[in-house]
Amino acid sequence: MIELRHGSVALRPIKESDIADYIRWTTDKTGWDDWEIAWNGNDPDDAGYIDAQIRQLEREGDNPPDFYTALEIDTADGRHIGSIGVYYDKDNDKYEIGISIPEMDIWGKGHGADAMMCYIKYLFDNTNADAVITRTNSGNIPMMRLAAKLGFVEDERHIGHITRDGKAYDAVGYSLSRAAFNANF
Ligand SMILES: CC(C)(COP(=O)(O)OP(=O)(O)OC[C@H]1O[C@@H](n2cnc3c(N)ncnc32)[C@H](O)[C@@H]1OP(=O)(O)O)[C@@H](O)C(=O)NCCC(=O)NCCS
Repeated sequence: MIELRHGSVALRPIKESDIADYIRWTTDKTGWDDWEIAWNGNDPDDAGYIDAQIRQLEREGDNPPDFYTALEIDTADGRHIGSIGVYYDKDNDKYEIGISIPEMDIWGKGHGADAMMCYIKYLFDNTNADAVITRTNSGNIPMMRLAAKLGFVEDERHIGHITRDGKAYDAVGYSLSRAAFNANF
């Protein structure tokens, strides 16, 4: 089983006991996903979120992939706090990174930045990607700050594309080139 470490986090494949955390994260309404209005304006799909983890577990259980498109995030001392992964858009040859840390009590301590750096390094080491992208909405301050902190450059913005609770937000896209990442990492 792979384990990648960087700073305050360790990334590892999903295991069965994680599913209880996913159920808690989607049923206890702590508000962690209020920030996470999707790029297309849809609300997070809780049932689909758990289902995706179970399918990943079934797929990877006895057949570890050469490259993990999703890994779980633990703190350095072993607390499971979230997940990170990539969606490969074949048609446009784009690698889109997504991250969730539902355990809000530890936000702002650098776990998000460490997990992103760790996973992006893994991705660049194991694919031919020239760049990675990430997408969010202009109301998601933590994600926008995280992207800026890692050197992502805004390269797409759709003004007022997303509406939530009667308020309009921009859909914002960022990219980070392999060269820029290597220069900073
Ligand atoms: C985005 C996320 C992964 C960041 O996790 P994290 O562990 O707080 O990351 P970091 O500690 O590296 O902090 C990133 C930035 O968020 C800021 N931040 C953290 N909590 C915040 C809050 N409640 N309000 C405003 N900013 C906040 C931090 O100050 C930091 O910015 P800074 O370094 O310029 O001060 C986490 O907030 C999360 O899971 N959000 C919900 C899911 C989501 O929106 N994912 C992105 C989908 S596009």
